[in-house]
Amino acid sequence: KPIVLSGCQPSGELTIGNYLGALKQWVNMQSSHECYYMLVDQHAITVRPKAEDLRKATLDGLALYLACGVDPEQSTIFIQSHVPEHAQLSWVLSCYTQMGELNRMTQYKDKSQKSEANMNAGLFTYPVLMAADILLYGADSVPVGDDQKQHLEPARDVATRFNNLYGDIFTVPDPFIPQHGARVMSLLEPTKKMSKSDINPGNFIGLLEDPKKIAKKIKRAVTDSDEQANIYYNLEEKPGVSNLLSLLSCATGKSVDSLVPEYEEKMYGHLKGDVAEAVVAMLTPIQSKFHQYREDQAFLEQVMKKGAEKASLRANKILTSVYDAVGFIPRP
Ligand code: TYM
Repeated sequence: KPIVLSGCQPSGELTIGNYLGALKQWVNMQSSHECYYMLVDQHAITVRPKAEDLRKATLDGLALYLACGVDPEQSTIFIQSHVPEHAQLSWVLSCYTQMGELNRMTQYKDKSQKSEANMNAGLFTYPVLMAADILLYGADSVPVGDDQKQHLEPARDVATRFNNLYGDIFTVPDPFIPQHGARVMSLLEPTKKMSKSDINPGNFIGLLEDPKKIAKKIKRAVTDSDEQANIYYNLEEKPGVSNLLSLLSCATGKSVDSLVPEYEEKMYGHLKGDVAEAVVAMLTPIQSKFHQYREDQAFLEQVMKKGAEKASLRANKILTSVYDAVGFIPRP
């Protein structure tokens, strides 16, 4: 079976963007692929969250993975910091990654502009740790939303460079971007990606949000003020309406093309009402399962334990061949 690896940062509540862009694909790939899904707590500390917030977000994230249908019987689910090989490989890879390659990453630029007070080296070398995450498992395919595509380039580059020097040690991974839902936009600023760390909570919908609040946020979503309030899909002319149409499409499974004619004579308010209803219907079963899993501490621990063991077993093999290739002497 081809190997799949992916992860989310436990940096706040996961959003419908994370679900539609990533988690939903993860679930679909479970039976046909050998899957590794993690919570990247080591990536999350680049913005220095409070320890208690990080702990809560990590456990919430784990329970949400399960609630969304990631199945610990089929997939290996683990916490990044439980598998020390990630940090170990990351150091080696950082010696094979050029400063210039990392300088090109826009996420680092965005984040460093926003918080000049905390421009740490971890923000800069973030893609190297991400490359280690992926290459440690020999992943063929990495299911992610559109925004992560550029972060996969350093992984592909360093894998190729390393293989040219030392032989076929790494698999060069391909991103797997879903056809629909790869780029869920912010509700109030529909030309920017929906993000769980947005300072304005009106911009995103968390997977655990109260249905009434979800409906309110969708009602307040920015629509497009052209002369006629027509409902059609066009990302340039109608970013807000297009985002709502694509959300409705993802949540109902109907294509955008088949939805548009249904709104020919209707107003934005109709569309928003339907989107709210569909999003709530999509999240209701996830929320009720979440609460069951979240309260079952013993089960969560068992999942983490088994996941870390399985992940380490695989990660250790590749790390050992990397250590050997660069000339580290095995520990006697
Ligand atoms: P993160 O935590 O920002 O997002 C997790 C996943 O959700 C997707 N996503 C979206 N998809 C569609 N629309 C959106 N608005 C949206 N927002 C987020 C992301 O594309 C991602 O797939 N660097 C990664 C975490 C990571 C990782 C990895 C991923 C670390 N190591 C190895 C894959 C493989 C990140 O910050 O994702």
